[in-house]
Amino acid sequence: MPTAFHFDMDVNQLKSWTENVSQAVMIVNDCGVVVAMNHPFQRLISYSVEEIEGRAFFHFLQLPDSFQAIRGKVTWIQGELRAKEGKRIRTDIHMVQKQILGQNYYVLIFYPQISLMMNQWFAHAPFGIAIVDVEKETLLAINSFACSALGIQEDALYQSIRRFLPKGKKHKQLLSFLKSPQRFRGRLEIEWNSKYLLLTFTPSFDGEANCFFIEDVTKFKLLEQQLKYNNRLATIGQIAAGSAHEIRNPLTSIKGFLQVIRNKFEQMGYQKEQSYVQIMLKEINRINHLVGELLLLSKPKEMDLTSVQISQVMKEILPIIKNEALLHNIHIHIDYQTSSHVEVLADGKLLKQVFLNLCKNAIEAMDQGGRLTIRLMHRKKKQLVVEFHDTGSGIPEAVRKKIFDPFFTTKENGTGLGLPICKQIMKEIGGRISVRSSKEGTVFRVLLPLV
Ligand SMILES: Nc1ncnc2c1ncn2[C@@H]1O[C@H](COP(=O)(O)OP(=O)(O)O)[C@@H](O)[C@H]1O
Ligand SMILES: [Mg+2]
Repeated sequence: MPTAFHFDMDVNQLKSWTENVSQAVMIVNDCGVVVAMNHPFQRLISYSVEEIEGRAFFHFLQLPDSFQAIRGKVTWIQGELRAKEGKRIRTDIHMVQKQILGQNYYVLIFYPQISLMMNQWFAHAPFGIAIVDVEKETLLAINSFACSALGIQEDALYQSIRRFLPKGKKHKQLLSFLKSPQRFRGRLEIEWNSKYLLLTFTPSFDGEANCFFIEDVTKFKLLEQQLKYNNRLATIGQIAAGSAHEIRNPLTSIKGFLQVIRNKFEQMGYQKEQSYVQIMLKEINRINHLVGELLLLSKPKEMDLTSVQISQVMKEILPIIKNEALLHNIHIHIDYQTSSHVEVLADGKLLKQVFLNLCKNAIEAMDQGGRLTIRLMHRKKKQLVVEFHDTGSGIPEAVRKKIFDPFFTTKENGTGLGLPICKQIMKEIGGRISVRSSKEGTVFRVLLPLV
């Protein structure tokens, strides 16, 4: 059984202990003569037992202070080992003093390169580390990750931490966290220079300095916010779907009775009243349409995925958009860069709706007239690209992020449901929709799987 180090060991026990530790160990007597060492120590400096034992330790080890100055202390020191053939090894040394039968012995345990490695690890760690002097409120150490996360320079070292803490309400909270005499791990999440940082407190041994790990959790935070937002949208979608059904049923009966009344007025020759009812019916149709869109968005219909000839879809939408375009002085151009017989895997009716929504938006974006180009192209990975290119005023960056959100609209009479529906349908089909926009206009690009 390996002997554990204890202060009551005799010389032999001490020697046998050295053999069982993995670190290099040397034992020196009061006169500075090496009385024992272990194998790791021999290997480290490449000398044999005979070459080491009985010689003064300074042949093998150089210390910054004289031996007289440091002996008598249980301490950590730094030194340089002199190995065979002149090789020098910088090392941290843990020195323990022991008295055996009235004689002083010094046990030196070597940790070569550790401080160097620790320094490098500290400097290049993939997370921030900062050490704060609690009493002086200064920075004792900081690595480059922490500097860039906190947005400070390395010359902040030994300066008051108050100088670079964010101002305002957070300032006090952070200061007391950095100075807190915590004995256990503590955490604080803060917003700092538009980043989210997580500070983890690790207690130090003496309580004079506090050490912090600093992680940049901005990405996680943004993801979390996005998730919350999506959940909210999903809830809105469910409520919308629920209410849509409830609205649709009474509407059907109102519509039916209004039709009866309209016919009655017609028979009686009440022209004015008949026109009022006509308006009411038109408005009900509008509500019905809106409710239909809501239902589609929140609970997509069963998909009927079959092979759809793209030219057929184009043929069906063209008369509708041509009419609209004519009204707004818009020229429509269809650019087939692929065979018009090409077939995609989709639900024909829903695909038509996607194309219509995109054309409608394009036309609405060109109130002063313009040109709508629908371009169909082949892509390598068995995909068809359909682009809807308008010469409208484009979509500002801030707006672009939101256009696929349900109910987001910049139009007075918009529903904000067109694009979310397109996105939903594309998702169901297994395609994709994307947008790019500039001041010259907007391009919506739809990717469809070919049959
Ligand atoms: N081609 C386009 N050019 C400019 N803006 C567009 C275009 N298509 C969509 N948008 C913007 O996206 C918003 C959302 O569109 P959509 O979901 O179809 O709802 P709606 O058309 O009812 O506003 C529009 O209000 C508009 O601001
Ligand atoms: Mg729209």
